[in-house]
Amino acid sequence: MFVRVAGRRIALGITGSIAAYKMVEFARRLTQAGAEVQVVLTHGAAQFVQPLAFQAVTGRIVVSEMFAMQDERAAGHVALGAWADVVLVAPATAHALARFANGFADDLVATTILAARGPVIVAPAMETHMWRHAATQANVARLRERGVRIVTPESGELASGEIGEGRLAAPERLAAAIDEALAGSASLQGRHVIVTAGPTVEPIDPVRLLTNRSSGKMGYAVAVAARDAGADVTLISGPVALAAPVGVRLVRIETAAELLVALLAALPTADVVVMAAAVADYRPVAAAPGKLKKNGGEIVLRLVENPDVLRAAVAAKRKGTLIVGFKAETGDAVAAARTMLVAKSLDLVAANDVSAPGSEFGSDTDQITIVSAEGAEVLPLLPKAEVARLLVDRIAASIRSGSG
Ligand code: CTP
Repeated sequence: MFVRVAGRRIALGITGSIAAYKMVEFARRLTQAGAEVQVVLTHGAAQFVQPLAFQAVTGRIVVSEMFAMQDERAAGHVALGAWADVVLVAPATAHALARFANGFADDLVATTILAARGPVIVAPAMETHMWRHAATQANVARLRERGVRIVTPESGELASGEIGEGRLAAPERLAAAIDEALAGSASLQGRHVIVTAGPTVEPIDPVRLLTNRSSGKMGYAVAVAARDAGADVTLISGPVALAAPVGVRLVRIETAAELLVALLAALPTADVVVMAAAVADYRPVAAAPGKLKKNGGEIVLRLVENPDVLRAAVAAKRKGTLIVGFKAETGDAVAAARTMLVAKSLDLVAANDVSAPGSEFGSDTDQITIVSAEGAEVLPLLPKAEVARLLVDRIAASIRSGSG
C-alpha cells in the first residue's frame, strides 16, 4: 500500500470522530512499512480510541497535551511540526476543519499543522449535512488555498446508520496521499524558484489606475507547491487579497516596471521562473500629478506599451534557468501557447482558456494544458493547489532531464 514511507517521519493527528478507530490499523501498516509514526490525539479522539492501542502499534509514546511533552524548554509543542516530513490529520471533524482553517493553535494537532515545515494532508470525516454545509466547504477551500491537501470523504454507510457522503477516505487513498506528498517533497530541494503573481496596476493619476482581473490565486498556489517541494521561493506579487504564504520571500510590486526590476534582481540565482503574473500590456504615457477633473466631454488616455517582462527574463537569465510562461486566452489557448513557447523561447507554457467553466478569473479551480517542445499535456479541471502541484512536478521533471 505504501511506496515511499520507509525511514520517513509521519505525524498522525487524530480528532474526535468515530472513524478514529480505523487509524489504529492504518498506523500499524504505516509503521510496518518502515515509517516513524508519531500519533497525536485530541481529547475528543481519546474518547473513541485508547492511546495505548496506538502506542502498541507504533512503538512511540502517544501525545495529546500541548505543554506536557518531554522538553518544553525546547518549545516541545511546536517541535512535532518541524520533526515531521508529512503531517496527516485523519479523521478531521467539521470542528477541527474550522479550527485549522482559522489558524487556531489550541491543541497539539492544530499547533502541529501551524508549525509544519512540510506537506499537510487532512482527511475529513463527518455526517453528510455537516460535510456539505457552506461553512465546512468554505473551510476546506481555505485550507486548499494554503496548500493543504484534502483527501475528500467517500459515500457509504455512516455512523448514524444513514447512507451518504462523509465516510473517512479508504486507507489506500490516505496512503496514496502520503506517498504523493513525499514524492513531491524534495523534488526542488536546493533550487531557487521565482514566481510572479497577481495583476500589475498602472496609475492614471493619484487615485485611479489601470489593472486587470487577476486574483493571484494560481501564482500563490505555485509558490506554495514549490515551497513544499523543497525550493527556496521568491514570490513577486502585484496587489492581491491573499495572505502572504509562510516560508516564502514575498516582494510586493505595483507596476510592470517595478515587476521587471524585482525580477531582474532575483534572476541571477534562479533555477526556475514561473511567470504567472498578469502584466498590464499598456500603461498611461505618464501618470497625471494631480487628480484628473471631469470636463463634461470625452477624455483621451494615451497609453504606451509596457516592457515584456518574460522576454527580458529570457534574455537576462543564466544558462539552465527554466522559464515557464502562462497563456490566458478566451478560446484556443493551446495554439496560442505553442506560438508563445517558440516566439519567446520558453521551456514550458501553462495554457488556460479563461472563458471555460471553472477556469474563469478569480475561480478556485483551473484547467490548464502544459505545453512544451515535446507536446501538450492536458490536465483535468482541478483545485488550483492541485494544478500547481502537477505543474511543479512537471518543472522538477524538466530540471532532472536537464532542459532549460
Ligand atoms: N508577460 C510579461 N510581460 C508583459 C506581458 C506579458 O512578462 N508585458 C507574460 C505573462 O506573465 C505571461 C505571458 O507573458 O506569462 C503571456 O503574456 P501574453 O500577453 O498573453 O503573451 P503575448 O504573446 O504577448 O500575447 P499578446 O500579444 O496577445 O498580448
